[in-house]
Amino acid sequence: MALTGLFLVVFLLEHLYGNLLLLKPDGGAAFNEYSHNMTSNVFIRIVEILLFLGILAHVVNALRLTIENKKARPVKYAVNKPAANSSWFSRNMGLTGSIILVFIVIHLSDYFFEYRVEGLDGDETIYGEVIESFKNLWYVIIYIVAFIFLGFHLNHAIQSAFQTLGINHPKYNPIIKKTGAALAFIITIGFTFIPLYIYFTMH
Ligand code: HEM
Repeated sequence: MALTGLFLVVFLLEHLYGNLLLLKPDGGAAFNEYSHNMTSNVFIRIVEILLFLGILAHVVNALRLTIENKKARPVKYAVNKPAANSSWFSRNMGLTGSIILVFIVIHLSDYFFEYRVEGLDGDETIYGEVIESFKNLWYVIIYIVAFIFLGFHLNHAIQSAFQTLGINHPKYNPIIKKTGAALAFIITIGFTFIPLYIYFTMH
């Protein structure tokens, strides 16, 4: 979970950088060129296969862990006050992860499928498709809700991944926690800014 998760965080940072090119006031030239370069580079295509395998491994492992956890304690604790020592989000990673998975399926069927499987029509560009979709308020809302869940998921996940990998020391734990929270915040705010900016300025 930790290794695939950290790999997905690296993808998110790269994806955020690429998507921020949407905001460059050049009619989409930089974003279209970036998308084109990404799809025509053999190395990136191999990383893309690893990305899909990474998502799959992360989801399959999450399901396996959830089932094992349930089996390990079929009888519930007589006294259980989870809120006293853990956050709601740390206890519901499966739920927030499932919401993110639903988002990814919707997201891929919109852009990835249209751009890479079906193929764009002659006068369409990937930039044009993204700008057009964020002119729809519902679309903007659905995306932002997904990004908020993603942020909470990452906030717990990044520090937890370091613990799993054994990078755990009383002296460094607060720094690891803060770095994880900062990364989660940057990713959430960065992604959220994009549909908001497009909706309010390119309408
Ligand atoms: C404003 C936010 C976002 C925009 C505008 C956006 C846009 C896009 C576009 C245009 C593509 C197709 C590009 C291509 O296939 O080369 C794509 C692919 C993809 N996106 Fe996003 N995306 C956003 C957020 C996210 C988030 C938050 C996630 C994950 C939680 C995500 C996961 C993916 C994946 C897995 C792919 C397919 C991999 C790839 O081909 O690069 N995206 N996105």
